[in-house]
Amino acid sequence: MTSAPSPNSATPLDSLDEVEDFYKTRYPDPSQPAPEPKPKVGHAPDKKETEFRNYEADARPTVREFYRLNHTFQTYEFGVEKRKQYLGLNRMQMGIWEAAEYLNQLVDDSDPDTDMSQLEHLLQTAEHLRKDGKPRWMILTGFVHDLGKILCLWGEPQWAVVGDTFPTGCAFSPKIVFPKFFEANPDTIDSRYNTKFGVYTEGCGLDAVNLSWGHDEYIYQVSKDYLPLPALYMLRYHSFYPWHREGEYGHLLNAQDREQLQAVKDFNPYDLYTKSHGKPDVKALRPFYEELIAEFFPAKIRW
Ligand SMILES: [Fe+2]
Ligand SMILES: [Fe+2]
Repeated sequence: MTSAPSPNSATPLDSLDEVEDFYKTRYPDPSQPAPEPKPKVGHAPDKKETEFRNYEADARPTVREFYRLNHTFQTYEFGVEKRKQYLGLNRMQMGIWEAAEYLNQLVDDSDPDTDMSQLEHLLQTAEHLRKDGKPRWMILTGFVHDLGKILCLWGEPQWAVVGDTFPTGCAFSPKIVFPKFFEANPDTIDSRYNTKFGVYTEGCGLDAVNLSWGHDEYIYQVSKDYLPLPALYMLRYHSFYPWHREGEYGHLLNAQDREQLQAVKDFNPYDLYTKSHGKPDVKALRPFYEELIAEFFPAKIRW
């Protein structure tokens, strides 16, 4: 008999970046040519094989274990509890730059010579938006988009902070990465939560839907009084790959969600595909970002 896995002991990933590296394999940059598949020895690849790579089989064991935990423990009730715990925003008051430095204390087993720190990733995402002439609010969105990862500093396990997000409280889409792992999620056999609509109604809109809990929802809630609507969609749904990449959950969307989908899609390449472009100079960039932050946010906000 195997014992039930414990939700809190597990930090399978050496670094949170492992999940983002996995995204890049699973969701390759559509603007780049697809890599040639490796043919099996003595076996000519057929069309289907060349078009489809088995990302799950190729994933690192740490990433697989991460998703196993995520899919097992992200239940509807878990998300309700986390929203109660965090969304009163009464833990601390700090400014955006301060929060970025605070997040940067997050030390994991990534390689400091080659891997980006959290602050460097934020600056790199923002700097690419700036170079492409995007509006100031969008550059700022790039800078704040992962600040919700400070949840890790408050003891949240990796599986409750990062990874693709998905609706809870209704049937899990088979297009979510590693769908098999949902077999261990108690909501899968709970008749309140395992139907197409579950606790929701047709066209109810994503605002009414509890996505699996993580850094997207948290930074959205922290920022929602200060940034324009497309920015808020970018923050809240940047990890909702089952929607913005796979086109799932159309039955829950309202007109506003459909209008804002393109904003989420426009943001995604800046998050995923800018990581190999050299490290930003934090000290040199700080004055620009302090000024940009002050244009939209008060000096201190609630976290
Ligand atoms: Fe993120
Ligand atoms: Fe990111």
